[in-house]
Amino acid sequence: MVNGEKSLSVLADELEARMALELENLIPVKSALFLSGERDPRLGPLVKSRDPNNRGKKMLMGPDPRLPRMPDKPTLVDFFRLRFAPTHLLQSARIARLNGLEDKIVLACLLHDIAVTGLIQGDHGYWGAQLIEPYVDKEITWAVRAHQSLRFYADPDVGYEYPQVYIQNFGADYKPDPHIQRDYERARKHKWYMTARMITCNDIYSFDPTVNVSIDDFIDIIEKHFRQPEEGLGFDDSSSAHMWRTINMPTRML
Ligand SMILES: [Fe+2]
Ligand SMILES: [Fe+2]
Repeated sequence: MVNGEKSLSVLADELEARMALELENLIPVKSALFLSGERDPRLGPLVKSRDPNNRGKKMLMGPDPRLPRMPDKPTLVDFFRLRFAPTHLLQSARIARLNGLEDKIVLACLLHDIAVTGLIQGDHGYWGAQLIEPYVDKEITWAVRAHQSLRFYADPDVGYEYPQVYIQNFGADYKPDPHIQRDYERARKHKWYMTARMITCNDIYSFDPTVNVSIDDFIDIIEKHFRQPEEGLGFDDSSSAHMWRTINMPTRML
């Protein structure tokens, strides 16, 4: 982009996406949560199916043609390739592996922020843990959940300091919410504390633009430690299947 203007390729992509929707006569829907803040959620749904402008069109109830098409039985790797912006996850997992950590911690690092990149930022450790819970060892789920609070507390014994970037982002006087403080205190005494702490130690914020990591580098670990459902993520009736479906098809009306 130059001077805040969209580049030709971005404009071309947007035009193509709009045409794909128009060709199929579909109306995508933005959930209240997608817009809340930009828009007062008490106003109700943004798109009204009975709006005369929408006559002859259908509300979108399946894949959004503007997004890359997912396979019918999507795997974790498909989500990495087709729905996530995975650089932070890949680089964190790479560092964990270079640091000689065991596979399950490398996997925890690879998954720790999938909610940030795929679902929602706020409370991302809790959302992320819930997403992966049916498919990984309890210890990994526990660690992904706990990294939400541990990020805010230093542990000099393992060289983890309060992140400078948090001072920049939240201000020097920022204090975590009481529930984060409580979660931290519980996690500190837990038998899996160090697993979660390792996520924070390998959670890097300074991306190395010279390093190119691919999800292919972690296929072996995923195959060993992630129980990919045969029916595909989103279609196996697990307790988090609906969350994977929503990431896959985020603009369905219902
Ligand atoms: Fe995180
Ligand atoms: Fe992170």
